[in-house]
Amino acid sequence: MAEWVDVCALDELDPEDVMRFDHGGRVYAVYRSENGTPYATDGLCTHEHVCLADGLVLGEEIECPKHNGRFNIRTGAALRAPVSVPLATYPARISAGRIEILI
Ligand code: FES
Repeated sequence: MAEWVDVCALDELDPEDVMRFDHGGRVYAVYRSENGTPYATDGLCTHEHVCLADGLVLGEEIECPKHNGRFNIRTGAALRAPVSVPLATYPARISAGRIEILI
């Protein structure tokens, strides 16, 4: 059953930034968009399983550090080759000054 899991304090993740979050043997990527909204996706690129938290957040997109493929951080959609398989996404929220994700 999915549960809200604490990731970090809000001020540990700047707007337009991403961090790696490991939980239950899985890797997630947790983001804040330009306007500060939190989002979460699987943390490994669907192309060659590189850690997306080493990539660049551009507006609502994450650019993979390896081959510059891009995903939408809100929907997980694959936006630019070589990625073609979308990322799984997870609900994220701010609660009492902390970022939580539902996994
Ligand atoms: S590993 Fe991410 S685009 Fe190739």
